[in-house]
Amino acid sequence: APNINGANVKAHLTQLQSIASANGGNRAHGRPGYLASVNWVKSKLDAAGFTTRVQSFTYGGATGYNLIADYPGGDANNVVMLGGHLDSVTSGPGINDNGTGSASILEVALQMKATNFKPTKHVRFGWWGAEELGLRGSRAYVNSLSSTEKSRIKAYLNFDMTGSPNPGYFVYDGTEHKPVIPGSVDLQKRLEAGFASFGVPTELTLVNGRSDHAAFTAAGIATGGTFTGAEKIKTTAQAQKWGGTAGQAFDRCYHRSCDTMSNINDTALDRNADVIAWTLWATAA
Ligand code: PHE
Ligand code: ZN
Ligand code: ZN
Ligand code: ZN
Repeated sequence: APNINGANVKAHLTQLQSIASANGGNRAHGRPGYLASVNWVKSKLDAAGFTTRVQSFTYGGATGYNLIADYPGGDANNVVMLGGHLDSVTSGPGINDNGTGSASILEVALQMKATNFKPTKHVRFGWWGAEELGLRGSRAYVNSLSSTEKSRIKAYLNFDMTGSPNPGYFVYDGTEHKPVIPGSVDLQKRLEAGFASFGVPTELTLVNGRSDHAAFTAAGIATGGTFTGAEKIKTTAQAQKWGGTAGQAFDRCYHRSCDTMSNINDTALDRNADVIAWTLWATAA
């Protein structure tokens, strides 16, 4: 897998920050900054040869949008999906939550093309709308699939907050869904192996209904993901392991107006993007 250049991911974040600044300071569902974000990501993927589609849905009296992008080729009956939410809360630009996951999977998608990756499996990306209002976009997407289309998706990897300023390195616990979906444990182990290959210690976290993978697990699809922490406080043991500041939140600007370009840890952002690429190459090759 290619080592992802963190500066490229950061440049995408700068674009999302500019979009928010030009649209009232946020990229929230039903606000102009959201659709502008979708159109900007779409333009990058179209230029790289992806097949893109914008799926609309209605929530709370406003139109929401999911962006779906298919990488050409691979076995259409064996689909690996990566996704993250592209909307922010209304109070700020949402650069860590979730510009980071959105920008990281965008850069990984662009590197598939740049390195001429020819995976055996078919690879699809999703940027979800209205996550902040209750996983609305990802649920609309999964609900729109026939049972045959659902059964073709063998794995869904979710990235929501991957550059927290006081970062932890969390992998979604593959046993959180009951009954356990065996493939989720495999994805957990693969993500852990990815971090281990870069010498980064990890912990498991139970995300449950707090992000978009939940729409996929509810359909019996194997899921996994990474996370650098939100409002919870970093412990002394965690600060010894990962650095940063014990007794402080992983992200003190979570859901606030200060979730800007200054709210990013560059090392966490780059390491997570590297692990995303490592895991995609290992899963889809
Ligand atoms: N989904 C949460 C949000 O967008 C953030 C989160 C991600 C929380 C992963 C826990 C685990 O606000
Ligand atoms: Zn890197
Ligand atoms: Zn959020
Ligand atoms: Zn989020």
